[in-house]
Amino acid sequence: MSLDIVVGAQWGDEGKGRIVDLLAEEADVVARYSGGDNAGHTVTVGENTFKLHLLPSGIVHPHTIGLLGNGMVINPATLLDEIAMVRQAGIEINPQRVKISHAAHLITPGHLALDAAREEARGAGKIGTTRRGIGPAYTSKVNRSGLRLERMLTSKGFQDALSVHLKDVNHQLDRLYNSPPLAEDEILAAYSGYAEALRPYITETGEFAARSLLEGKRILAEGAQGTLLDLDHGTYPFVTSSTPTAPGALVGLGLGIGSADRVIGVVKAFQTRVGEGPFPTELSGDLASRLRGTGENEWDEFGTTTGRPRRVGWLDVVLLRYAARINGITELALTKLDILSGLESISLGTAYQVGTSSTKTLPLGPANLDEMTAVYETVPGWPEDLTGIRTWEDLPQQARVYVAAIESLVGLPVRTISVGPERSQVIQR
Ligand code: IMP
Repeated sequence: MSLDIVVGAQWGDEGKGRIVDLLAEEADVVARYSGGDNAGHTVTVGENTFKLHLLPSGIVHPHTIGLLGNGMVINPATLLDEIAMVRQAGIEINPQRVKISHAAHLITPGHLALDAAREEARGAGKIGTTRRGIGPAYTSKVNRSGLRLERMLTSKGFQDALSVHLKDVNHQLDRLYNSPPLAEDEILAAYSGYAEALRPYITETGEFAARSLLEGKRILAEGAQGTLLDLDHGTYPFVTSSTPTAPGALVGLGLGIGSADRVIGVVKAFQTRVGEGPFPTELSGDLASRLRGTGENEWDEFGTTTGRPRRVGWLDVVLLRYAARINGITELALTKLDILSGLESISLGTAYQVGTSSTKTLPLGPANLDEMTAVYETVPGWPEDLTGIRTWEDLPQQARVYVAAIESLVGLPVRTISVGPERSQVIQR
């Protein structure tokens, strides 16, 4: 078996695209297993920077085959735009190279409208969703009224099912949210075109994945979002509606329990989050602005999908240990270490103060983090620029101390360190 799973160990945006890009060189099959176009993975290849929302990032390597697994929710309009964009950059996309699960669910304009209406209705208690219709599409799935991509294989049945779905959405928009209805005819026409275009790509991807493993091929499962956004294990209710953690790769690709060899947890050298919800090590003021960047660079901390400025803070090791447990992480990949250069000192959140006692674990998981105050350990910073460094030995002593502190506090090796956005800006140990 050779299934490697890459997961985000924080709240998403850990730089998984970078690490996936590196690992995809050795993979035969690259696969997305959960979420939808709420994800945004930036991959830089030479002069080209791609923002991929649905296609697995590893697809930019011409030798790979890309899968969109059954655990995903897919907006066909976004997917077709993305395919066109990638093709324009000279990357070949055809049904031999890209396979979409018949059991993945469709996102419709109905789901987008409900996402927006529900967020408005939540008022101050809003989740801060990406408004891509993710939650409502998974709600349809669990409610057993969702539209699986297999519906697109037969046009009459598909139009009927879509029409029933849109009538139901319009009923909800009217009765629950006092919102105007969606134009059914326009949506039916657009979706009939999408079905035509996507039909050749729809297949039983689980069978394909299992056969690939039997043939000795390597599959790289690309996690989207992050552990703390997991529906079950994240900071509920400020979570996404899927299972981005490593077990979700098995369910979301249709693979058996013993398939995974390696779980690579991607962790940023500091902590970020978009959207609402608790964040014990959050920083504000000049230090926060310094870590966030101005937004002028691709790698500054502004959302890939929404452009929102990300909230930033010190690395939270309590949450990282939790992520290691939930995912069964076997090694860490540390990203954006270069951003910490020039800081006088660097803190790590290593415990929480709750009332008068302190804890290094999460008594009730991460759901009640807003009652916790972070307790820090601080190490000295380093002035040197790291972006040109390619070996562990060449890193400044204090940077190595910081990485070693993470390893010993979490109990996992840091095998990969990224020091810039380019493919080559990486240190492997
Ligand atoms: P939804 O997934 O659009 O429903 O959003 C739910 C929460 O997950 C919000 O806080 C979003 O900001 C967050 N979220 C969803 N996808 C991503 C991602 O790819 N990176 C970071 N945060 C995300």
